[in-house]
Amino acid sequence: MKLRTDRVIDRLNALGAISDSENCINRAYGTKAHAASGDLLMTWMQKVGLQTHRDTIGNIKGVLPSHAIDAKHFIIGSHYDTVFDAGKYDGPLGILLGLEMVQYIIDKDLQMPFHLNIIAFADEEGSRFNTAYLGSSAIAGFFEKSWLQRKDDEGISLETVIQKNSGICSNIDSDSISKENCIGYFEAHIEQGPVLCNENLSVCLVNGIASQTRVDVHWTGISGHAGTYPMNHRNDALCAAAEFALVVESIGKEYDEKLVSTIGKLNVIPNTPNVIPGKVEHTLDIRSLDDKFLTEIGQILEQRAKEISKQRNVKLVWNIMQTNTSVQCDKNLKRCLKIGIEKAGIHRVLEIPSGAGHDAVMISKIAPVSMLFIRCKDGISHNPLEYVTPEDIEKSIEVCDNFIMELINQNN
Ligand code: GLV
Ligand code: MN
Ligand code: MN
Repeated sequence: MKLRTDRVIDRLNALGAISDSENCINRAYGTKAHAASGDLLMTWMQKVGLQTHRDTIGNIKGVLPSHAIDAKHFIIGSHYDTVFDAGKYDGPLGILLGLEMVQYIIDKDLQMPFHLNIIAFADEEGSRFNTAYLGSSAIAGFFEKSWLQRKDDEGISLETVIQKNSGICSNIDSDSISKENCIGYFEAHIEQGPVLCNENLSVCLVNGIASQTRVDVHWTGISGHAGTYPMNHRNDALCAAAEFALVVESIGKEYDEKLVSTIGKLNVIPNTPNVIPGKVEHTLDIRSLDDKFLTEIGQILEQRAKEISKQRNVKLVWNIMQTNTSVQCDKNLKRCLKIGIEKAGIHRVLEIPSGAGHDAVMISKIAPVSMLFIRCKDGISHNPLEYVTPEDIEKSIEVCDNFIMELINQNN
């Protein structure tokens, strides 16, 4: 176990050292560091004996084939892209635990009743093109062609990035796995919240994943001279956006129990000290476990934005980029995972919902899904302080071994 724990930690460190930025972890989709980390994952997949393939969108797939006639697919996955200034564990840990499960199967010489697919998804965070679950959407057959025209901050389109890195965009559809052929999905991930720390548990089950809507909001006022233009005659786009940001916060606080609302990215144009901001573009990210409620909140926020736009005479564009309904984890897979947790000596099996988005959301369109959460220090994530103890990594390896064993037995 010590050897396997050390291997996972060494690999987390190796991936963490691959970055597009000098002083922090930064592997946005389609960059040099992103490609290099995909290459490294592929070599580890090959080392453990998987048949590997990089698909059009950049997912790295490793397959342990079954010799059973009519065998279907089971997928284990997580993502290898990161947010800017990320930690080492969000995404990679789930892929590396998948590789440990393969190693366990090979060492035990188990007969596979299904083809086991380990997939390192190319983009889950959506940091570059505001497209969460880009990699898993291609696997699920839900990639939307219109996303190809989306541009990053440098004006480079997703289409250009795919063409340059991996090929012909029209091939994306043929990379999917059909619903008829897929029997399930498993993803291990750090919790990214404080529950496991507070409960003093290494791991727990996930019972569902919150719904999420992402909106691009643009405010267009009139830029002008900061020294000469009178205050009462301004159409300041930043002030409109700022007023709206406080609305987003206060509505989030009002419904604290069931809503989180965030403006995480904001561009001020021209972003110059002595010019009144003429344009502001920002994101909006709202999440809830209650789908209907989230739709209503989206409408309320849009209405409030329209009122601000009118009062301030600043033009508003409200563009919904993505919306995903909530996802329930599968009962049977949860049962297998519960057995896996108990066999690892953890007798209090907690079940919690995930506020964070995961590739399981997309894969739920083609398969029953399951997720294991692993404790991370102080619940901190999307932050370089993200940390999982070696003891908890070791426990997760044990749980994952037990889970895959249970699943294989059940399907044999
Ligand atoms: C991914 O980490 C997300 O929940 O945004
Ligand atoms: Mn993340
Ligand atoms: Mn993640």
